[in-house]
Amino acid sequence: MKDKHLVELLKEMTLAEKVGQLVQLTPDFFAQGGEITGPMQQWQMSEAQSYQIGSVLGTHTAEQVYTIQKQYLEKSRLKIPLVFMADVIHGYETIFPIPLAMAASFDEHLIEKAAKLAAKEAAEAGIHVTFSPMADYVKDARWGRVLESNGEDPTLSSVLTAAYVRGYQGATNNLNKDKKRIAACVKHFVGYGAAEGGRDYNTVDLSDLEIYQNYLPAFKAAIDAGAALVMTSFNTVRGIPATANQPLIQDVLRKKLGFEGLVISDWAAVAELIAHRVAADGEEAAKKAFHAGIEMDMMSDCYMNSLAQIITAAPELQQQLDQAVYHVLKLKDRLGLFDDPYRGLNEADLSVHLDTDTRLSTREAAEKTAVLLKNEDILPLSKNQKIALIGPKADSKDIFGAWSWIGKQEDAVSLKEGLSEKHLDLSVLSYAEEEVLSDHYIEEACKLAEQSDVVLLAVGESSEESGEAASLTKLTLSRRQDVLVQEIAKHNPNVVLILFNGRPLVLSDIEESCKAILIGWFPGSEGGHALANLLTGTVEPQGRLPMSFPRSVGQLPLTYGQLSTGRPKTPDNQDQKYISRYMDEENDALYPFGFGLGYGSCEIEQTTITHISEEEGLYEVNARLINHTEKAHRTLLQLYSQDLVTEVARPIRELKQWRKVLVPAKSSIDITFNISETQFAYVHSDLLLKNDPGKIALYIGFDSKQADKIGEIAI
Ligand code: GLC
Repeated sequence: MKDKHLVELLKEMTLAEKVGQLVQLTPDFFAQGGEITGPMQQWQMSEAQSYQIGSVLGTHTAEQVYTIQKQYLEKSRLKIPLVFMADVIHGYETIFPIPLAMAASFDEHLIEKAAKLAAKEAAEAGIHVTFSPMADYVKDARWGRVLESNGEDPTLSSVLTAAYVRGYQGATNNLNKDKKRIAACVKHFVGYGAAEGGRDYNTVDLSDLEIYQNYLPAFKAAIDAGAALVMTSFNTVRGIPATANQPLIQDVLRKKLGFEGLVISDWAAVAELIAHRVAADGEEAAKKAFHAGIEMDMMSDCYMNSLAQIITAAPELQQQLDQAVYHVLKLKDRLGLFDDPYRGLNEADLSVHLDTDTRLSTREAAEKTAVLLKNEDILPLSKNQKIALIGPKADSKDIFGAWSWIGKQEDAVSLKEGLSEKHLDLSVLSYAEEEVLSDHYIEEACKLAEQSDVVLLAVGESSEESGEAASLTKLTLSRRQDVLVQEIAKHNPNVVLILFNGRPLVLSDIEESCKAILIGWFPGSEGGHALANLLTGTVEPQGRLPMSFPRSVGQLPLTYGQLSTGRPKTPDNQDQKYISRYMDEENDALYPFGFGLGYGSCEIEQTTITHISEEEGLYEVNARLINHTEKAHRTLLQLYSQDLVTEVARPIRELKQWRKVLVPAKSSIDITFNISETQFAYVHSDLLLKNDPGKIALYIGFDSKQADKIGEIAI
């Protein structure tokens, strides 16, 4: 049922005004600076066209929004307010850890809280929509955008993607009342993470089964949570770019997933149909995108220059045009913009008020997302040790990572600053930003290492080395950092590696040189404080890997949820030739999905499986964890399954549930998983999600590789 007042407004609009509503441009077109997140074209646009567009993306400040909106409304005939959108991906000005790090928390409540706080800062700066969450399924760390993802498990990603939407929009979706919330645009629909070779923007060629089984669930979760927009992806799907893919948008997104909101292209993706060579010119690009169902053309002039003529030449398209414009007006109405075009802005004081709570929340997030991969009794640090802090990231403030919007690096707490507050016997070999580590720096570092009890080696990626348009063919430490690790280890065996990274890296060649490895990811504004708390034991590391760390880049794409194949490698056929394996590498990850250590330990003492209800197909899985040590221990108990015989080939393991658990010292604790048969449904060859009768093996453990079989159920 359409809103009457919007239908009436639609009737008043001219064809040019309707087309204008489907155009989104950066602030540059209003002589204001803003964020450029894609190739920049400048094209001629009349003043009339400027004051007919529907949306602006990429403003940085409240002042910009206020100035542009005010100027626009003064000149707009129908006074339809602009809707302002931005990439608020992991914070607006106070920066949270990158999304891949946030996924390492396996904590939907943390995600929801972070999204709510980011929305508050963004809304105060006049942002109405964020191009987040990114729901892409990923299994290839060569693709720099794994940084923005929730990792390699569709179930985990679905849960976290929905949490982002709730956090941004608010559970009741009362965006027109709660001016501290913003609308969510889930992206990139669909399959972008499967770019061949991990090379950004490259061809994607997936089976429908793969798309339905692994790539759609997180989008469905976001749409079911109420995501207001969907952004299509740059890549081809079944041979046609998503931006011009009518079956994908109309049949899959609209009909199968039931999406009723606004469909927006990615940056210049309509015009890029020409580069894809599926359109000869801008007019054909506009025609194909519009037919497919793109309702807002981000940063291209195709709709602006050609859509009016296309509609005039084909009046039967008028209804589709009205539907698209209605979706734009509906979004603005949901946000309350007709009543308050300056939504969220305090016109008297346009400065954004950064509050301490948000900053402390980013610290909590960084503490909960770091992953301890190795610790040979060297962490936590103690005050009576002589500690050396060495490496390019030792006192670096480049710890936000890509998509950190207007976060100011000078506001970041470096590792050095964080550790300096811990009153340790700390010597720091600072690092001047150079392209690669010099021999001189390495020599100085080795001297300091020799005089120290423990060496903290802070290394990793610069912000430019992961994220969009940051594909790599090598995943070892860059810029001679691997040489630094190996040289230092020759002078002091007590090396703690602290990694600042936006993606899984290949640590195989340096892993043995380190007694401990802590994955800090890009930890955000409070990174130094969080890592210092973790390294000194104030807080126990509790992150778990949301994405496998490979032994070699040659293993990619890699996921724990791989299929069995007809010739699986098993513990008892290792010496056989004709099995699915490499001649020069293991099959499994160096560090598998779900893996992570703490400072304590616990064991699974006993498990039971109980068939609670035959009628409802409900089972209860109980596990008793026991902690024999004197220290409380935080862990993540994980429940996996394997469907023993299926219609289509299924993964050897599937994560079904997980639980964060604090096991008190010298105690045991019982954990119960309630699981329904419906959780074992999978997409069949007819593309329908359904159960089929058979046996399901259940596994419980602390990562995807070590989980032990606890029994079978028959459904
Ligand atoms: C970029 C990205 C997309 C982003 C958009 C707007 O190219 O692909 O994720 O939201 O443009 O900045």
